[in-house]
Amino acid sequence: MQHDKVLILDFGSQYTQLIARRVRELNIYSEIHPYNKIPTNIQEYKAVILSGSPFSVRGDEALLPDLLNIKGRKPLLGICYGAQYIAHFFGGNVSLSNSREYGRANLSFVKKDETFFNNISEGSQVWMSHADTIKKLPTNGVLLASTGDVKNAAFKIEVEKTYAIQFHPEVYHTKDGKQLLENFLVRIAKIKQDWTPDSFVEETVSALKEQLGNDKVVLGLSGGVDSTVAAILLHKSIGKNLYCIFVNNGLLRKKEFENVLAQYEGMGLNVKGVDASARFLNALAGIDDPEKKRKAIGRAFIEVFDDEAHKIKNVKWLAQGTIYPDVIESISATGGPSAIIKSHHNVGGLPDYMNLKIVEPLKALFKDEVRRVGASLKIDAEILARHPFPGPGLAIRILGDITPEKVSILQDVDAIFINGLKEWNLYDKVWQAGAILLPVNSVGVMGDERTYEKCVALRAVESTDGMTADWVNLPYEFLQKISNDIINKVKGVNRVVYDISSKPPATIEWE
Ligand code: XMP
Repeated sequence: MQHDKVLILDFGSQYTQLIARRVRELNIYSEIHPYNKIPTNIQEYKAVILSGSPFSVRGDEALLPDLLNIKGRKPLLGICYGAQYIAHFFGGNVSLSNSREYGRANLSFVKKDETFFNNISEGSQVWMSHADTIKKLPTNGVLLASTGDVKNAAFKIEVEKTYAIQFHPEVYHTKDGKQLLENFLVRIAKIKQDWTPDSFVEETVSALKEQLGNDKVVLGLSGGVDSTVAAILLHKSIGKNLYCIFVNNGLLRKKEFENVLAQYEGMGLNVKGVDASARFLNALAGIDDPEKKRKAIGRAFIEVFDDEAHKIKNVKWLAQGTIYPDVIESISATGGPSAIIKSHHNVGGLPDYMNLKIVEPLKALFKDEVRRVGASLKIDAEILARHPFPGPGLAIRILGDITPEKVSILQDVDAIFINGLKEWNLYDKVWQAGAILLPVNSVGVMGDERTYEKCVALRAVESTDGMTADWVNLPYEFLQKISNDIINKVKGVNRVVYDISSKPPATIEWE
């Protein structure tokens, strides 16, 4: 299937992937390429967007793309650095701004361009993030809009379909950002909106077929949305050549291993369940430092995974369900100017001696997009709605050292909480929830007996990406019922508290 394509040239902005995401939300296909690697088939792209950048067009390090075949020849939108680039190198002038230009501002039209500003009202909130400012417009520049602090906030070039904006339409805080991108891409560049999760599936499957041929691929399933969607995509592409391994590290939720394994088998996946609980719990014995726990789990995982992968002959690839937010601190997922990619794999990366090539079909997607792709693959809605669960599992929810008895107590507490959320129709309103076993014993009274038992904390947060989060205002009646159930049913617990801390300054997990 051929789609109209948009080229996003990446100058290293933290927001470049967000531009791609907004474009995809418009059902338009886009590709991100480093600013200095303009595709040779540039004629196939219907529009070009220049991203922002941490660099200055005035500095020695200014990134200088060759726009010869682009500017004036096809619709071009410069964002922030992109806008400054268009100004600075085509007859205008950019200099250091005198005032702070970060955060909220409001658009005020100088010349309302009915197409570019279609459906956008005077005063619309936009988000700024820049130190340089455009002092003089480029040759043939026409000022379109200003904000309180920024005179040249939006301009176009006469006769060309070149537009430039100092603010960031891709961030959520620019209220009409998506509308503005739609105006540029659909009304000005006349791009068809035909790129959907279905077409992502279709294209990814055919690309994976080509990339993997008859090679064998091994994939570690976690029970979570990402690895499941990655597995189904690969399964559709290479069928029985996909070997899935699902490891029980003994730190999963209650009955999770059995239930999820059965679900996977039901989906037709070639999956091997490996119960390595004892190995993990041995590796964790006596460790109470959170980072040491994570490392011990990571090492044990690699050992188990390596053992299992070796049993499959001639495996060439390791597939991972990495999604875009996992690629943290990355300026560019595509090898752009500051391509320091720190991949956050649950297992902390695999050793080089395994000698496997990596395939990551979901690397460019955000979580909600993965869910949409999952729905297009007809994956059970229950799996797609599953809350995120950390790779080290309950190990980082048992504060202090870990014993099988503590795991079992926490599994019981967690099951009552999570099942309760489902029964009360609260599960889908919460982004992530779980229970934490505190290293605290407190006095209680049960019957006529004095008890001295454990305390658990319940945590439920709302979030969009886990980067920031707030606690959820769960109904008191619900908390009352769950607290009663936990204390009455779970031996060894006599006190329940609810965590009312936001992130920041707290984190979602307690360790
Ligand atoms: P924090 O605690 O940093 O958590 O606010 C943010 C999100 O990340 C998850 N998390 C982890 N996930 N390995 C993972 O795979 C880890 O070591 C880890 N630590 C935290 C956490 O559950 C939340 O969704």
